[in-house]
Amino acid sequence: MTGNVFSIRGRTALITGASRGIGLSIAELFADEGAEVVLVARKQETLDEAAETIRARGGKAHAIASHMGKAEDIQRLVAALDERGLAIDILVNNAGISPPHVESFADTPESLWDKIMDVNLKGPFLLSGAIGKRMVARGKGSIINISTTSALMSQPEIGAYCVSKAGLNTVTRCFAREFGPHGVRVNAISAGVIRTVMGDHTLNDPERYADMMKINPLKRAGLPEEVANAVLFFASDASSYSTGTIFQVDGGVLS
Ligand SMILES: NC(=O)c1ccc[n+]([C@@H]2O[C@H](COP(=O)([O-])OP(=O)(O)OC[C@H]3O[C@@H](n4cnc5c(N)ncnc54)[C@H](OP(=O)(O)O)[C@@H]3O)[C@@H](O)[C@H]2O)c1
Repeated sequence: MTGNVFSIRGRTALITGASRGIGLSIAELFADEGAEVVLVARKQETLDEAAETIRARGGKAHAIASHMGKAEDIQRLVAALDERGLAIDILVNNAGISPPHVESFADTPESLWDKIMDVNLKGPFLLSGAIGKRMVARGKGSIINISTTSALMSQPEIGAYCVSKAGLNTVTRCFAREFGPHGVRVNAISAGVIRTVMGDHTLNDPERYADMMKINPLKRAGLPEEVANAVLFFASDASSYSTGTIFQVDGGVLS
């Protein structure tokens, strides 16, 4: 391997949940590094704004609204990529939801359970399957799933979220085994608490924040760009011998 192995210049990357937070940071970093980016989230307007910001700084960006919890939306998204002739080299399954805390895990409403599983687990499974098969046909590709330390630390008040992301870790490993022989790698980032709209739920509650910092050796929340930097590593050839990895970006919480 010669040249800059961290380079993703000239590659096409699809990032879900790319209108804000961690997903937007990944999209901006990838575009700055010379990749053409496809931004996906539910709301077209905020996606268009994000894509415009990227274009304004010289990047190439597409914005396609799609709901990651709906199989028919995912089929439409994949069809739109084919129609536009966009062959995806890097897929980042980042879109995710973590709804408000429940009183008891046992009383998690079925509708809430289904909603979380659809977006956090079924969506990445379906999209990785569809795009992964196209990567396999081309003999190359990298898929990165954005998971969480909560997949390994059970928290009953957000139990469904923990279960969905533990499932996502296993989806990562299953696809890593299936696609590995065909040159397609699949890894996950296990993020700790990160400063975003989702992360603010924890960060704005001083008691919860203090509790979390007790087990955090770096004594602070992470930034979206700190997750994006790790994603770049797995997107690029710098991580060419890594697949099926669940990589911690969590301030050392699981150390
Ligand atoms: N922040 C943290 O502390 C933290 C920690 C560990 C892991 N994570 C994981 O990191 C990922 C990103 O989180 P974040 O903190 O950046 O969240 P965020 O600020 O809430 O952003 C979520 C993004 O996902 C999109 N989205 C939400 N539901 C969607 C759906 N059904 N289909 C398509 N897009 C959807 C949102 O746009 P629309 O509303 O327009 O759809 C938005 O672009 C998630 O998977 C989360 O579980 C976050």
